[in-house]
Amino acid sequence: MINEVIVTTQNTAGVVHLAPMGVHIFDDEIHILPFKPSTTLANLLETKKAVLNYCDDVRVFAGCLTGRRDWILNGLILDGALAHSEVELVRVEEDDTRPTLICKILNTVNHAPFMGFNRAQYSVLEASILVSRLHMLPIEKIDSEITYLKIGLDKTAGERELEAWNWLMEKIETFKAENSK
Ligand SMILES: Cc1cc2nc3c(=O)[nH]c(=O)nc-3n(C[C@H](O)[C@H](O)[C@H](O)COP(=O)(O)O)c2cc1C
Repeated sequence: MINEVIVTTQNTAGVVHLAPMGVHIFDDEIHILPFKPSTTLANLLETKKAVLNYCDDVRVFAGCLTGRRDWILNGLILDGALAHSEVELVRVEEDDTRPTLICKILNTVNHAPFMGFNRAQYSVLEASILVSRLHMLPIEKIDSEITYLKIGLDKTAGERELEAWNWLMEKIETFKAENSK
């Protein structure tokens, strides 16, 4: 199974980095697959440590994709995460484009209850993925998927989801304007 989480890492100088990643979850290990080049990859190779933040505030996902990375952290733990796991890199399966970082889970801590699924959160996550692929996908495909995702958004969003959605739509509009010149 692949779960979308916020991965936080730091380099040996202590500079912290956060990035949304779909991590592959197994019984006692998780696999992180960053596309090269990646700060997450470089940091994990340098320090062997990461924190996976399980977070239902989709503004963090959309924010990272739209230049808003300034989220509150306590060490590597994202403020507002429902839970987090500390992981340690144990092995790397090398690949020219997307290596697999095999990590052992050291501990998992709960901070707040999971309050159920929300369709608007799904819409924001999917729209974030589309934004991360703006240069790779035909704009017609982006437009038709956004039209579909907006149905769940309109029916179920709260303020956080609407704010995140608006950041993503702004980014798509800017991309369209820049590429129609
Ligand atoms: C929900 C979601 C899942 C993502 N999963 C991955 C992933 O598994 N691997 C990856 O390289 N980028 C993934 N991305 C894109 C990265 O978050 C983004 O490109 C980021 O900047 C990664 O590079 P970095 O480590 O240099 O920050 C994902 C983005 C979103 C919104």
